[in-house]
Amino acid sequence: MKEVLIIYYSQTGQLLSILENMAKDMEGANVNISYYEIVPKPVYEFPWKKEKFYDSFPESFLQIPQDFEHPSENILSKKYDLVLLGYQVWFLTPSIPINSFLKSVAAKSILKDTPVVTVVACRNMWIMAQEKMKKLLLDAEAKLVGHIALVDRNINHISVITIAHWMFSRKKRSLFRDFPKTRSFQQGYKGC
Ligand SMILES: Cc1cc2nc3c(=O)[nH]c(=O)nc-3n(C[C@H](O)[C@H](O)[C@H](O)COP(=O)(O)O)c2cc1C
Repeated sequence: MKEVLIIYYSQTGQLLSILENMAKDMEGANVNISYYEIVPKPVYEFPWKKEKFYDSFPESFLQIPQDFEHPSENILSKKYDLVLLGYQVWFLTPSIPINSFLKSVAAKSILKDTPVVTVVACRNMWIMAQEKMKKLLLDAEAKLVGHIALVDRNINHISVITIAHWMFSRKKRSLFRDFPKTRSFQQGYKGC
């Protein structure tokens, strides 16, 4: 029996549905899939208030950890054949919840010597975040074996406006009439 663990932090649920679609392709008699959702303490509200959104910039960029709900004994007790790590990019950096988890003792206990595939769904600015992720995984003694990046179909200047509107209003349709819907991924993963 192969054990797969999906670790994620997602606010809109979009990243989770991408990971669930990936899991469907792996599911089978010989594969057991478990999930661990990172829940920050306190939680970040969605949609975001502008002040809170910009206020989270220093702690995000400087990678300062915060408290979070630690994984259960059930999750910690197993050795995994593969970990899918779904993370949001916040200000060109792995988000505070993911960063906090990766700097914890629990992360090292789960990830040490374990193959990890990282998954992001972002605008198109993921390379700097992934460089920081490589360092975090190295520190946790994990084995990074792959990275899947689903990026926005729209050009950078448009997606920065449509994504900000999504974060502040929960609406994917832009406030400007002729702007496209945000997050139509180039390499869509089964309709996401
Ligand atoms: C505080 C904050 C900062 C973000 N910064 C970036 C960024 O620098 N680049 C990017 O492509 N997306 C950025 N995003 C968008 C996220 O990466 C992510 O796509 C979005 O939060 C939705 O993720 P979810 O569907 O998992 O909830 C940011 C989101 C938040 C909340």
